[in-house]
Amino acid sequence: MNISIATVFPDLYRDFLNTSLIKRLQEKEIASYDVVSFSSFCNPKERIDAPAVGHGAGMVIRPEVVERLVDAQDKKWGKSYKIFLTPQGKKLDQTLSEQLAKIFQEQKHVMLLAGRYEGIDQRAHEEYADLEVSIGDYVLMGGDLAAMVLLEAVMRYVPGVVGKDDSVAMDSFSGTFVDFPTYATPAKDWRGHSVPEILTSGNHAALKNHRNDKAAQRSVRGHFGWVKNHCRTKEDKSLVSKHMPHHYLVLMHDNVLVQDGKIGTSSVTTLDIHDIARSCCTYGVKNYFLVTPLVDQHKIVETMLNFWHGAGIDYNRGRAQAVDLVQLSQSLDQVIADIEKKEGKKPLLVATSAKQQGDASQRITFFDQDKVWVHDRPVLLIFGTAKGLSDELINRCDFLLLPIDGFTEFNHLSVRSAAAIILDRWMGINLTEVD
Ligand code: ADE
Repeated sequence: MNISIATVFPDLYRDFLNTSLIKRLQEKEIASYDVVSFSSFCNPKERIDAPAVGHGAGMVIRPEVVERLVDAQDKKWGKSYKIFLTPQGKKLDQTLSEQLAKIFQEQKHVMLLAGRYEGIDQRAHEEYADLEVSIGDYVLMGGDLAAMVLLEAVMRYVPGVVGKDDSVAMDSFSGTFVDFPTYATPAKDWRGHSVPEILTSGNHAALKNHRNDKAAQRSVRGHFGWVKNHCRTKEDKSLVSKHMPHHYLVLMHDNVLVQDGKIGTSSVTTLDIHDIARSCCTYGVKNYFLVTPLVDQHKIVETMLNFWHGAGIDYNRGRAQAVDLVQLSQSLDQVIADIEKKEGKKPLLVATSAKQQGDASQRITFFDQDKVWVHDRPVLLIFGTAKGLSDELINRCDFLLLPIDGFTEFNHLSVRSAAAIILDRWMGINLTEVD
């Protein structure tokens, strides 16, 4: 395959293409590189770029220059598959890298076009781009480093480039988990850091399990977004749940806002009990606490729970399993004490509110699992009824999840819907690809 690289600064590529594995591709005659400068396709006194149409948008690489470069390279190497490097492109990840490696191997000629200034004229993108690629949500001074990153990510998949094909297949971001920790021989302590004994035990099955476990642990704690998007198998699911802190949920019917901003109690509802229990069961929540100090309310819930602990089991096993998570409680403090007794640690309190309440320092997004989980403590998700949790209760919380919002002004989700959405966002699988 030939790879043409169109750039304003060809010198940037000299060392890059003549070093290590990228160089090896040329030596093995798997790939050849042809770095071409946009300026070589300018007529005397002609500029590569021109001011953008409209006020204040900088300089743009002119389409006529791109046209001449593309025509010349396609004439020399055959019609190319053209990739424009731009921050507006499709985000490069491991999946796209693997797909591109196939395209590179099928095509005789691939062209990478790296813009500078404010980029390449939109009309040239429209005319030529088979694909636009971004290497991340940040803006570089130009597309050259992006072109090099793309080459490094893609070329590893070309057979014969990386020593062991296995090490590509087992890499970070090739499956559910990032790579396991690795150590250089000899396996001796270094500055107080040791190598796990299991790695030198010679027990290959145990070593494999250990590596999988460590990979899962560091992925859950540091790359949960990736895990959520890629966890497919039963084995991986169980490894993930092993490394997630235990989560509990409480629905407050006490210490909530009622009419006229007063703090009071609310009534339990059978729909909230059943539906939130089913959501808790789906997402692996350990217990679903209902807090009300009212004796009559306790009696209502107990009657219902008795049904599900008895005749209800045969009536609907799944529902009975879910309702089994429900635990009645007098107060939030009682819930915290129960969790501490079971877990040996006090839970972190994470509240959710439909309104902007609390302090800015408490607020977290649905992508901030690592901020909470780093504390290695159980997590209690707190939901309010009636008009929401009291400010006093909100202020006690360690974290406050942002309100759920759509692209409308309507803000009246039922608490059971909010609980389902929050559980899904916080700890649900959300695959980015179909099998
Ligand atoms: N050019 C400038 N920034 C870029 C990015 N993030 N990805 C690809 N090309 C770029």
